[in-house]
Amino acid sequence: MNEIKKAQTQFPVLDIIRDRWSARSFSDKSITPETMHTLIEAASWAFSANNEQPWRYAVAYKNTPEFDKFFSLLMGGNQPWCKNAAALVLSLGKKNYTSNNQPNSAMLHDVGSANMLFTLQANSMGIYTHVLGGYHADKVKEVVELPDELVPVYMIALGYLDDHEKLEEPFRTREITPRSRKSLNEIIVELK
Ligand SMILES: Cc1cc2nc3c(=O)[nH]c(=O)nc-3n(C[C@H](O)[C@H](O)[C@H](O)COP(=O)(O)O)c2cc1C
Repeated sequence: MNEIKKAQTQFPVLDIIRDRWSARSFSDKSITPETMHTLIEAASWAFSANNEQPWRYAVAYKNTPEFDKFFSLLMGGNQPWCKNAAALVLSLGKKNYTSNNQPNSAMLHDVGSANMLFTLQANSMGIYTHVLGGYHADKVKEVVELPDELVPVYMIALGYLDDHEKLEEPFRTREITPRSRKSLNEIIVELK
């Protein structure tokens, strides 16, 4: 854990929330399938509208052709540090409800909730994650086969933490920059 990344909160929060942050420096240590399944199991216990559980996960471990395919989808600013990730995991969402095939308007909400549980479980095991929107979602189906009913949501880079010194700039500085948030009075909407 990088102390400087700990959330400076106005009110006390759970350690697991305070200590989560989006890391970029990953070590050579690999993530085993068993560990990955633990993270996906955690994700699967998120709440979801109608208990639809629209989340799906496509896992690419480092040093596999699948990793190279996902890596090729990443935008320039993400490639320099994602190359060290132990895995790239693509979160996907099932567009329609299974019961009536109608669009599931809660799908993105629910996949995001699952991704957070994935992350918190990972953090509790010494693994750090970084959610990525900077990838070519429109090209996913050019590099891997996916059922039509699924849409790519966000990529997650993850791995065990390494020293920030290993990174090139500007990522090295970002790895040791304190996290910031809006104050509560900016996000609490006063009702009149
Ligand atoms: C939906 C989403 C997309 C993101 N995309 C990227 C990205 O493409 N590249 C990147 O470096 N960080 C990305 N991030 C990480 C955010 O920049 C990061 O969560 C935010 O700055 C807060 O930092 P923290 O997670 O360390 O608290 C993304 C985060 C989310 C939730």
